[in-house]
Amino acid sequence: MKSDFLKYQAQTTPHPLAMEVSHANGSYIYDTNNKAYLDFVAGVSATPLGHNHPKVINAIKQQLDKYLHVMVYGEYIQKPAVELAKLLAKNLPSALESTYLVNSGTEAIEGALKLAKRATGRSEIISANNAYHGNTMGSMSVMGYEERKQAFRPLLPDVRFINFNNEDDLELITTKTAGVILETIQGGAGFIEPQNGYLEKVRKRCDAVGALLILDEIQPGVGRTGKLFGFENYNCIPDILVMGKGLGGGMPIGAFTASSKLMNLLQDKPKLGHITTFGGHPVIAASALATLKEITESNLMAQALEKEQLFRKLLVHPLIEDVRGKGLMLAIITPSADITNSVILQCQDNGLILFWLLFEPKAIRITPPLTISNDEIIKGCTIIIDILNKIYK
Ligand SMILES: Cc1ncc(COP(=O)(O)O)c(C=O)c1O
Repeated sequence: MKSDFLKYQAQTTPHPLAMEVSHANGSYIYDTNNKAYLDFVAGVSATPLGHNHPKVINAIKQQLDKYLHVMVYGEYIQKPAVELAKLLAKNLPSALESTYLVNSGTEAIEGALKLAKRATGRSEIISANNAYHGNTMGSMSVMGYEERKQAFRPLLPDVRFINFNNEDDLELITTKTAGVILETIQGGAGFIEPQNGYLEKVRKRCDAVGALLILDEIQPGVGRTGKLFGFENYNCIPDILVMGKGLGGGMPIGAFTASSKLMNLLQDKPKLGHITTFGGHPVIAASALATLKEITESNLMAQALEKEQLFRKLLVHPLIEDVRGKGLMLAIITPSADITNSVILQCQDNGLILFWLLFEPKAIRITPPLTISNDEIIKGCTIIIDILNKIYK
C-alpha cells in the first residue's frame, strides 16, 4: 500500500508521515498493525469530537438513508443545511445571521473576499504577514509568506500586508480598503494571540474608513479556545466570519457568515454572486449540525480551558521555550527545528500523534479533540517529556 500511496497519490512533501490507517475511535487512530496512536492533532483541528463520535456517525447514517446531493446550492430547502445555518445564527452575535455553506476553508475565504469587494466597491485587501488562509488563488494571494506563493504569481492585485499586533500598521487601512482579513489567532505563524486589544483597534479602524473586517476562524473556531468562536475572547465582532475545519465534525466544509444585508448583495449585480454545486451538502451539513449541537449543549468549551491548564502544568522542560495559544489550540516552541522534528517523529514511533505548523519550524502543534480526557492528556504529555529527556541528555 505504501508504494502505491507514493506512486499514485500525488505527493507535495518528500517525507509524508505515511501511517497506514485502519480505523479510528475517540482520541485514537489505529494503523493496519493495530497499533494505537493517541491523537494530539485531531486531523489538524478538524475533528473536535474525536473520531467516530456516535452522535455524528448517527446523524450521518440517518441522512444517508434519506438523500445525498439533490440540487446545486441554494435552490431546494434541505433541512440539515437550514438547521445548521439557523443554529449558527442562534449562537452568534445578531449581526451575523446569514450563512453561505461551501466545501472547504479556502473556498469560504474566496467567498468572503468577494463579498467584501462587492459590498464596498473597492478592490484593496489588507492581510497580515505570516497569515495562512488557504491554497486557492485568492486565499493564496492573502497568504503572508512569499516563499510559498512566489512560484504561482501573478496572484490577486491590490493586496497589502500589515504586521499582526502592530498598531502603527493600522494606518495602512484606508478608504481604499475593501476588507481586512485576519486570523483571530494566527495559526501557521505559531499560534499568535492578538495582544493589547489589537482586534478591537482593527475593528475601530475598519469602521472609521468603511472597510469590512473578515475574521478567519477556520482553526480557532468551534469551541477550541473556550468560546464557540475565538473572537468572543477579544471583544471584536467581524463583518464576515469565516469557518471550516472543525465545523464539519470530520467532514469537508467551509462557511462564511455575515448580516443578511451584506449577504443579500450576492443576489444582485451580478445575480448568483457566488456559486457552488456541493456547498450545503446534506450529509455534511448533518454531521456539522450534530457536532455544533454537541459542542454548544455540552460543557466541552469550558473544559477546553481546564485542559489547557493541565497541558501547561505538564509541558515544562528545559527544551520547551514557550507554550503558545489558547484552550486546546496550543503550540510548544522548542529551541530548534531539528528538536521539533525529532520530537514529532519519535512521538509518532511511541504512539503519540503531533504535527508541525506551516511557517514556524520550531513549533509543535497540539490541537487534540475537545473530548480528550485528562488521563489521555497526562499519557501524551508523559511521552513528550520522555522524548525531550532523551534529546536533552
Ligand atoms: C486559518 C486557516 N484558514 C484557511 C484554511 C484553509 O482551509 P482548507 O484547508 O479547508 O481549505 C486553513 C487550513 O489549514 C487555516 O488553518
